[in-house]
Amino acid sequence: MSRNHGEGDSLESRLNALADSDWYPFHMPGHKRNPEFAREYTPVYRMDITEIAGFDNLHSPAGILRDAMENAAQWVGADRTWFLVNGSTCGIQAALGAVAKPGEKVLLARNFHRSAGQMLALRDFRPVFVLPEEAAGGSICGSVDPEKIRHALRENPDVKAVFLTSPTYEGIVSDVRAAAEAVHERGIPLIIDEAHGAHFPWKNGGVFPVSALDLGADLVIQSLHKTLPALTQTAVLHLRGSRVSPEEIFRQLRIFETSSPSYVLMASIDRCFRYMADSGMERLRMFGERMERFYAELGKQLRTLRVPGRIRGKKECFDRDLSKVVIFGGGKITGTALADILRRTWHLEPEMACRDYVICMTSLMDTEDGLERLFRAILEIDRELTEEDGKSGSGGVLRAFPALPRAAVPPEEAFDGQWENVPLGDAAGRIAADFVTVYPPGVPMLIPGEEISPEMVAIIREDLALGLEVDGIGEDAARAVRCRRK
Ligand SMILES: Cc1ncc(COP(=O)(O)O)c(C=O)c1O
Repeated sequence: MSRNHGEGDSLESRLNALADSDWYPFHMPGHKRNPEFAREYTPVYRMDITEIAGFDNLHSPAGILRDAMENAAQWVGADRTWFLVNGSTCGIQAALGAVAKPGEKVLLARNFHRSAGQMLALRDFRPVFVLPEEAAGGSICGSVDPEKIRHALRENPDVKAVFLTSPTYEGIVSDVRAAAEAVHERGIPLIIDEAHGAHFPWKNGGVFPVSALDLGADLVIQSLHKTLPALTQTAVLHLRGSRVSPEEIFRQLRIFETSSPSYVLMASIDRCFRYMADSGMERLRMFGERMERFYAELGKQLRTLRVPGRIRGKKECFDRDLSKVVIFGGGKITGTALADILRRTWHLEPEMACRDYVICMTSLMDTEDGLERLFRAILEIDRELTEEDGKSGSGGVLRAFPALPRAAVPPEEAFDGQWENVPLGDAAGRIAADFVTVYPPGVPMLIPGEEISPEMVAIIREDLALGLEVDGIGEDAARAVRCRRK
């Protein structure tokens, strides 16, 4: 399918052309444009309204929206659930805003999404970081060791809340139960960014990991649009227990969420919950079994590529979500070259590619044809791999933290202070005044206030050379970084 601009080219015509083509999505959203599911959905313009009588108000719900949110909470075992139309981003920001005040300390695992990082600067938090373990030979961030959290809390008894990402973009889950114990010993709340795990709370025969909601977390944020059949931007924030005030969450959501929430998106959230509570759960169970067979067959046949299936109970990987198909080049091909073949030859669009691997996101909405095409593509690429296909080094885009960057000043001070652009080549030793983030997955490699190490400059250079999108680096030849003025 041509994606060139041409006469009559518009966003809508392009989207329609994509929908009519044979390209298959192994990326978000989780509904996968599944025709069977989409066919039953009311066309968007017919139900796009604002807060008129009879339709309630998301920011002060007292009718149909309140009931829908209460039903959702009941289905997944939360005490309160808020529908979100600005993605998990606004839920993460509201959650962090609710648990600490400017100048206070928050403990975060350093592989947080940029939405959490931005709050550090916006709210003038004093972050304390723990590093996740390294997984896949150092290519990706693994689970977070609960003992590291316990230790960091002992060293920083004034921390007000703890924030972890579980699962990661690659589907690696941490031992949330043990983390919750360590956090609750201090009487403070645990926030889990479960943006990629919205399918976890639904009964699935034990194939997918248990949701943080059932493991002691106080606030859990999930993007429905990533792994469930719901429209882009839809997400939920769940609360359990009494360590966080629901009034404070409401107050924060009024700041971070639009004052004109889309009824189309809210209907999509409601529909997603109803669907999961009805036939979706069984479909999820069957999808889980399908993925177990997918990995088992690949495991028997692959010679060079590596596609890890179930990994459980390891320090660096407490559990893994099988819906994330992570294809490693096995030292013979880069992830970006692999993604090119998936696109060119197979018309499969992956979710992301970096130096060492490609991520294909699957969901309960994938068709048998789609999964079969991916399976055949992986096997055929594996067979045809030759030495000339490219090289893969050790490490990858998320190997951004050989050590914790040194925090020279608090994030807010660097973000709002005097700054100057410094060519990347001269940036080692300087202090970042903005975020530098590789997309996807959107984990900041540098946050304002951190000293830029020579290793970090090398990693950023490598990502740029690979053609990855590095947000926060200038487009000019010098690839300037915004640094704190000396
Ligand atoms: C780990 C993680 N958390 C949060 C988010 C933000 O989610 P949303 O796009 O729903 O705002 C993302 C987005 O990619 C993510 O990967």
